[in-house]
Amino acid sequence: MELLKFLLFICLMTGACALETQSHLKISRNGYQLLVVAVHDSVPDNPALFEKIKTTFTKASKVLYTATRNRAYFQKIFFLLPNTWTNRPEYKPSTSVTISGADIIFSAPRSTRRNFSHTRMYAGCGHQGFHTQLLTDIFSNSHPLVQSSPEKFIVHEFAKLRYGVFEEYSSPGENQFYFSTTYGRLDPVRCTVGLRGVIKNGQAFCLFSSIDPETGEFPPGCTYIPYPFRASGTASMMDHQYVREIKDFCDDDQTPGHFSHNVEPPNRQNRLCSHRSTWDIISNTPDFLNNANPPGSLSDSQLTPQFIVFRAPSRRRRRLAVVLDPPQEFHKRLRLHQAVDHFLTEGFDDETKVAIITNAAHRKGTRMRSRRSAAVKSSLQSIDQFYSLSTMRSRIRRGIEILKKRNSTKEGMEFHLIVISCNNQSGFETEVLQEMATTGITPHFIHCGENGIENMEKIRLQGGHAESRNQRSIFYAVQRLSDKLHDEKDVSVQISNENIELDGDTAYHSEFSLDDSLRGELTIRLHYSTSEPSVQVVAPNGSECIYKSTDRKLRYIRLTSLVSHNEQGKWSITIKNKTPNKESINVLVMLQPIISEDEVPIRTNAWVKVFHEHSPPRVGVYAEVMNGGHPVVNANVTAHVYHEDRKVAVIPLRDSGGGFDIMKNDGIYSNSFTEIESQGRHYVEVMIEDVLTNSEIHRTYELQLPTEKDTEDDQHDLHAPRLDYHTEKIPLRHRLKRSTSSGEFHVDHRWDSLSGGYDYPPARINDLTVTRVNRKDRKVSLSWTAPGSDLDNGRASSYEIRYNTNGTALVLNPKKGMLVKEDMLGDTSGKPKEAGQVETVTVQFPAKMKWVAIMLRSIDENNNAGEFSNMVTTYFVL
Ligand SMILES: *[C@@H]1O[C@H](CO)[C@@H](O)[C@H](O)[C@H]1NC(C)=O
Ligand SMILES: *[C@@H]1O[C@H](CO)[C@@H](O)[C@H](O)[C@H]1NC(C)=O
Ligand SMILES: *[C@@H]1O[C@H](CO)[C@@H](O)[C@H](O)[C@H]1NC(C)=O
Ligand SMILES: *[C@@H]1O[C@H](CO)[C@@H](O)[C@H](O)[C@H]1NC(C)=O
Ligand SMILES: *[C@@H]1O[C@H](CO)[C@@H](O)[C@H](O)[C@H]1NC(C)=O
Ligand SMILES: *[C@@H]1O[C@H](CO)[C@@H](O)[C@H](O)[C@H]1NC(C)=O
Repeated sequence: MELLKFLLFICLMTGACALETQSHLKISRNGYQLLVVAVHDSVPDNPALFEKIKTTFTKASKVLYTATRNRAYFQKIFFLLPNTWTNRPEYKPSTSVTISGADIIFSAPRSTRRNFSHTRMYAGCGHQGFHTQLLTDIFSNSHPLVQSSPEKFIVHEFAKLRYGVFEEYSSPGENQFYFSTTYGRLDPVRCTVGLRGVIKNGQAFCLFSSIDPETGEFPPGCTYIPYPFRASGTASMMDHQYVREIKDFCDDDQTPGHFSHNVEPPNRQNRLCSHRSTWDIISNTPDFLNNANPPGSLSDSQLTPQFIVFRAPSRRRRRLAVVLDPPQEFHKRLRLHQAVDHFLTEGFDDETKVAIITNAAHRKGTRMRSRRSAAVKSSLQSIDQFYSLSTMRSRIRRGIEILKKRNSTKEGMEFHLIVISCNNQSGFETEVLQEMATTGITPHFIHCGENGIENMEKIRLQGGHAESRNQRSIFYAVQRLSDKLHDEKDVSVQISNENIELDGDTAYHSEFSLDDSLRGELTIRLHYSTSEPSVQVVAPNGSECIYKSTDRKLRYIRLTSLVSHNEQGKWSITIKNKTPNKESINVLVMLQPIISEDEVPIRTNAWVKVFHEHSPPRVGVYAEVMNGGHPVVNANVTAHVYHEDRKVAVIPLRDSGGGFDIMKNDGIYSNSFTEIESQGRHYVEVMIEDVLTNSEIHRTYELQLPTEKDTEDDQHDLHAPRLDYHTEKIPLRHRLKRSTSSGEFHVDHRWDSLSGGYDYPPARINDLTVTRVNRKDRKVSLSWTAPGSDLDNGRASSYEIRYNTNGTALVLNPKKGMLVKEDMLGDTSGKPKEAGQVETVTVQFPAKMKWVAIMLRSIDENNNAGEFSNMVTTYFVL
């Protein structure tokens, strides 16, 4: 309740209600409101820890205020504690605040989750991420990245989450040193040269004379260790932020004596954000752009956040009023009733009570009943029922009345009004939404007609699901609603969801595979339209599926089977149409998983992000494939984009790094949608299907390496152990198969800005690397992921490679760099490769060059050039 009222208030105050992720975080008059910090139930009840978290956020609010140059602080923080924690009078019961919408989640290490703190991002450079996962070990004072200032670490991670900036030190697997063209020697990867430290290998210092002239590297084991204090300058919060003097983000202020952003080092921030400084990115986000939250002068007490503490209920008592407005046509009406039956039968527990409202004048079946009751079933089965006796408005009223009658003070009570309309009714009236907000009813609206939904943002802001879908994908829409109403552990895994057309007297045969992560109850539902087909489902051991039931009124066949490790592998389905008439069937395969502390299913999720800062806007399509907190790599992920009823594009999604995919092997598969033909609603269905069993789970662990004691120089004792990462690669024995879908996105007049079609340029290359250097011959081998002719699709026509001996000058003006001519290139086929493939070229640089900085871009057949890539540097002689 508190949250809902607050959301409405913020929405009215700021006029900005669009939610891209589940996060409700907003800034108003310098204060972040609605920051949701959840404690995962892996953390045991610990009041002292909770006090520590609160005092740390109080300090973090001040750190953030200073770092944003008096522009932002944490004003109001909502905490969500697990129900395993002892209740206290000051804790409020929560139904509207859930862990899936949390911005920051504290958890304890567990094998199914990642065992180190991290922030999950997919776009970056000014765009918000999903959430930050913090381990409770950040309070232990010894974590190498935290040391004794967890509040600074929280701001460091929050900057990644909110502003999409990246680390300025080397990330795991990257080189700790790079060749600086400014100094003409190796330099540690860091934001400013003001961050002082030593290069050591255990006890011994690493001298520049020890650099191997062949590899250009320090001897193995040499690392850069910043001093814990005595830094010159105050930047950067994205570099070793725990260093005492650091309190700012790196900027571009060139005033002598000020240590500003070094554009050269190949860290993530420079590589992914076009070598822009973190402050340049942050100050250009909507939070601060156009003086949105101008610098203030708040006192320490004003910067102290207000805390509101919720505790999750021990069980959820859901009350669902489902208001139906089905289409006139019988077959469409049938599909809708089948979908609602699927929605109510699969997934919800017996604590869930339901009322189906098809006709307000007609009282039968409009009391709350058990979701399996005969009354609920029979109202769904009355497909022929005459609907138009009552208006939708009166049905919605009736739904609200039924929900309001219930006792709302019981723990875990939640009230949902779900409207599924396939007619002209396309949203809630504003007053009705207001009434639901004040009475604690969450509105949901699925529209399956041609019109979009009015007040869609308001519905989402009140915590509801709003989605407009065509009739053919109504099962996807109800699945997404079902996912939203469940806790993650109870969400079913969708293996496949297909619409098939069977000619008279023909059979359909198909196979699906259950991978190693799946255990639980397998359910197959065949929704037919006219006459019952025959169906046979065969388990991997060759035996037939045992349990089968048919609902002849709702026209579906349901088969179930328990799946343990023995039943993983290849299953088959054969469906026979025994009549001479054509039959259309929807086939749904899903699994209700059994999960445990060290076993969770591989889950998928898809979304779309429109980048309006470009003209025409760019559309990124994303899907994640995760096993708990661990990414699944090498999966075969394909997105099918629909406009209305029509499939307009089939796009491979990649996790290979490069272009839209900012991070390789993070389980987020990405690409761009460029075949924009018409305006209107679009949505994406994603298939994951490995024909070859290539997928692997990558479990990465953080290891803290102890430091050797150093007696000569006291200040080094202050250094915590160093970090290392170890990735365990677990190949799947059985093939992976999943299907999922995204919400809708709109193509509107903003795409019309270019006449003559939508000719996107090639995407920016963000993974250029030097793979080999022949210093004697000045030959440098370069490698990168090929972009396409339109962003990340198709094939570009050429590359433009530029170089300069001054890296800073090259970044500031790449076009002024010298051009790599054809005769400098070694063995290459000339033409760029297909998007997503790895390019390699060898360039021979002119004599007398001592070192070189290189950038490139891709150009398409219409001479549209992409943005210049990240910059790399190397040397020939020192
Ligand atoms: C509502 O439920 C609470 C807790 O179960 C109970 O104390 C209260 O008396 C109930 N109120 C009504 C009106 O039934
Ligand atoms: C529904 O809307 C369409 C187009 O907006 C209109 O042509 C049609 O008459 C409407 N139907 C009803 C029953 O209002
Ligand atoms: C095959 O698997 C089914 C369940 O999946 C089981 O009931 C049956 O006993 C198994 N048959 C054999 C021969 O192992
Ligand atoms: C990838 O998935 C598509 C279907 O989505 C399938 O046709 C293709 O064979 C798969 N490729 C591999 C290599 O698994
Ligand atoms: C993470 O896992 C590794 C390997 O199991 C272990 O050595 C390390 O201590 C763990 N870290 C934490 C914080 O639990
Ligand atoms: C490199 O270029 C930058 C920017 O143009 C300039 O400020 C700097 O002085 C140059 N360095 C050298 C060594 O020429």
